[in-house]
Amino acid sequence: MNKNLFIAFEGIDGSGKSTQVKLLAESLTKLGHKVYSTFEPTDSDIGHLIRNIFAHKTEANHQTIAALFLADRFNHLLNKTNGLLKMLEDGYTVITDRYCFSSYAYHSVHMPMDWVIEINKPCAKLLQPDLTIYIDISPEESMDRITKARESAELYETLENLTNVRNTYIEAFELLKSNEKIFITDGNRLPDLIAKDIFGIISGL
Ligand code: ADP
Ligand code: TYD
Repeated sequence: MNKNLFIAFEGIDGSGKSTQVKLLAESLTKLGHKVYSTFEPTDSDIGHLIRNIFAHKTEANHQTIAALFLADRFNHLLNKTNGLLKMLEDGYTVITDRYCFSSYAYHSVHMPMDWVIEINKPCAKLLQPDLTIYIDISPEESMDRITKARESAELYETLENLTNVRNTYIEAFELLKSNEKIFITDGNRLPDLIAKDIFGIISGL
């Protein structure tokens, strides 16, 4: 198994991404990999601004939100301290909870997918995942997990929107499948079983 991979996790809200990032990071660390786990929106100033919008503390239109995610992603890739490119250069296996496909899926509900893909092209060209893992759960299961875990729903967390987002994810995977390596796994199973499937695929990279 390559020790310097870039793996991106994708899925609708509550699909189990952060649970699987943690399990994969633990397995790879045990094998002696240097692992760096990260996420988008990041915890940079831009990421905080985005989180305020999602918590309904600040208002923004969909174009602005898409552009903020793009700025956050550039910083995530390029910042000199712990940017994705630097961490990969330093020999880490990098695992991210969300990357470009999140933008394709979430913003294409409100704007043409071509536009979203186009504005993200510089980032997609700078760094493409060795594997994108999509954890598939139903929008109903997502809403169920979100309402159990949190007091109030964030922006985009409605059954209707998550149904649309799941559809745009599938649309984006279809559209880009010849250029991207994508693994779709059933997220309605026990976390350990999902982790085993994911580890199996990564072992072959
Ligand atoms: P995400 O990062 O995609 O939002 P999390 O890993 O935070 O998802 O999981 C969301 C919620 O669902 C958490 O309460 C978590 O404990 C639970 N959860 C995670 N994976 C599973 C699973 N496979 N089956 C049932 N519940 C899960
Ligand atoms: P996140 O904190 O990962 O939420 P969750 O843990 O519930 O999956 O992401 C916050 C929200 O940001 C989520 O609803 C998806 C959205 N998002 C976008 O709309 N565009 C993007 O490019 C990214 C990375 C996330």
